[in-house]
Amino acid sequence: MATTIRKAVIPAAGLGSRLLPLTKAIPKEMLPVGDKPVIEHTVRELVASGITDITIVVSGGKSLIQDHFRPNPALVAQLRADGKTAYADAVEEVGELSRLGHITYLDQHGPYGNGTPVLNAARNFGDEPMLVLWPDDVFVAEVPRAQQLIRAYEATSCPVLALLPMRPAESGRYGVPLVKEDLGEGQLRITGLVEKPAPQDAPSAFAAIGGYVITPGIVDELREQTKRWYEHREGEIYLTDAINAYAASRAVYGQVIQGSWYDTGNPADYLVAQFASALSHPDYGPLLRRLTRELDGGADA
Ligand code: G1P
Repeated sequence: MATTIRKAVIPAAGLGSRLLPLTKAIPKEMLPVGDKPVIEHTVRELVASGITDITIVVSGGKSLIQDHFRPNPALVAQLRADGKTAYADAVEEVGELSRLGHITYLDQHGPYGNGTPVLNAARNFGDEPMLVLWPDDVFVAEVPRAQQLIRAYEATSCPVLALLPMRPAESGRYGVPLVKEDLGEGQLRITGLVEKPAPQDAPSAFAAIGGYVITPGIVDELREQTKRWYEHREGEIYLTDAINAYAASRAVYGQVIQGSWYDTGNPADYLVAQFASALSHPDYGPLLRRLTRELDGGADA
């Protein structure tokens, strides 16, 4: 059996332009979904999946992320002294994530593109595979999405991409895998990704949804791309290009993830994520359902 994965990268240096002006002062990773910021869902998922080294790659204006996870013993002590035990526990729990996930922060540096934060983090991780999760996604799953990816890696020792079935009309929003073989139980052998094809050009009915097991071989491809970038100073460093270069001669797998997925990276999907999360809340869910029924009735009247 292959080694397992203990390290993960969350690229959090992006501008969040699709959510402006909401994200003018608040990092998109800090927008709430339910009672937690989006990135806390990601960190909890990683910690629950056995990850012990999380690197969050940031840029200017993202210090709220650090503030959120930084333990605050003085606040906890004050809340306990005031008898506000539940709040104290909640604050302590978030700080504890920082220790459990050994969260460190890295300033992004290098050419634009989503491959750059991965390359930045890889310098610290050495010759080890790592999980890369975009912080725009929230998964509700019996087995965490990160755990599903780790298991797929343990079974293959190869790079793995998180996939979901998609509607053909949505292909222009995603990387769509070229499937070579369906191995059953959601495992697919793939030969690359076509970035955001028109529906008639989509090579399969799956979408890559921002979860990757990246191995040192793919990091080498990113390194090559970056070297070329510095020679020509053109374009961006894309993870998809590195995956495609790697997959041209070596095995890459896709894993169809079991669970419900919520994207928070654009206004419409973010609203859906918030609404779905509120509906599943044990206390507020029933209230919202009643309100929705009343509003629906009102519209019909
Ligand atoms: C990136 C990837 C794409 C993937 C998507 C998932 O695109 O390049 O393959 O499907 O994330 O969210 P982006 O949405 O950053 O343009």
